[in-house]
Amino acid sequence: MNAPSSPEAVRPPLRVAVLASGRGSNLQALHRAQTEGRLPIALVGVFSDKPGSGAVAYARAHGLPAAALLPSDFPDREAFDVALMQAVAATRPELIVCAGFMRIISKAGIRAAPCPMINIHPSLLPKFPGLHTHARALAAGEHEHGASVHLVDEVLDGGRVLAQARVPVQAGEDPSQLAERVLSREHPLLIATVRAIADGRIRLQGDASARVSWLGDDDLDLE
Ligand code: GRF
Repeated sequence: MNAPSSPEAVRPPLRVAVLASGRGSNLQALHRAQTEGRLPIALVGVFSDKPGSGAVAYARAHGLPAAALLPSDFPDREAFDVALMQAVAATRPELIVCAGFMRIISKAGIRAAPCPMINIHPSLLPKFPGLHTHARALAAGEHEHGASVHLVDEVLDGGRVLAQARVPVQAGEDPSQLAERVLSREHPLLIATVRAIADGRIRLQGDASARVSWLGDDDLDLE
């Protein structure tokens, strides 16, 4: 008798697959937000290149489907990436989130992705793509550092930036202190960005190479 009052009321949760290699704190943040009703997603699978990673352990401990593929079981990077994407595709995701997936995904892997893919990167892109971002930001004398969520395309850490969180650099801090402060901002940044995608405020169309229809960042509460 109660008809849904808005299209949002009937929107099914966004099907999200997560790729992770490390401790998995961003995965945990997404999962916690989802279980607490703050993020309308379904975590359909966690995929890793590291069977012993914290991310895989967290997924298994919390009943999330998890699969780890070993790169050494494949003849080359492309073969691994395509097999990974086939496993991901079997979970029918609408969005792939790279949350500390510490491998470069080849063009073949990106082309095999079944849906758009985003990545969280610990710098204010386009500054400091690649590794050791916190030490590099300090060495460069940056006054401001932070994290970015961007669309994954064929350029390493080069896809369109969707959202950023900024962190002022404090005098005398070392890379690990800065990393810790950035990480604490990564979690709300990733949750807010995935929520904006789930809500349709950021629209990603087609496969991973598709253009973004970006509705502006006014609605993103990232401080
Ligand atoms: C994060 O700093 C993320 O930005 C980078 O890798 C780290 C992953 O951390 N891509 P966690 O595994 O999510 O704790």
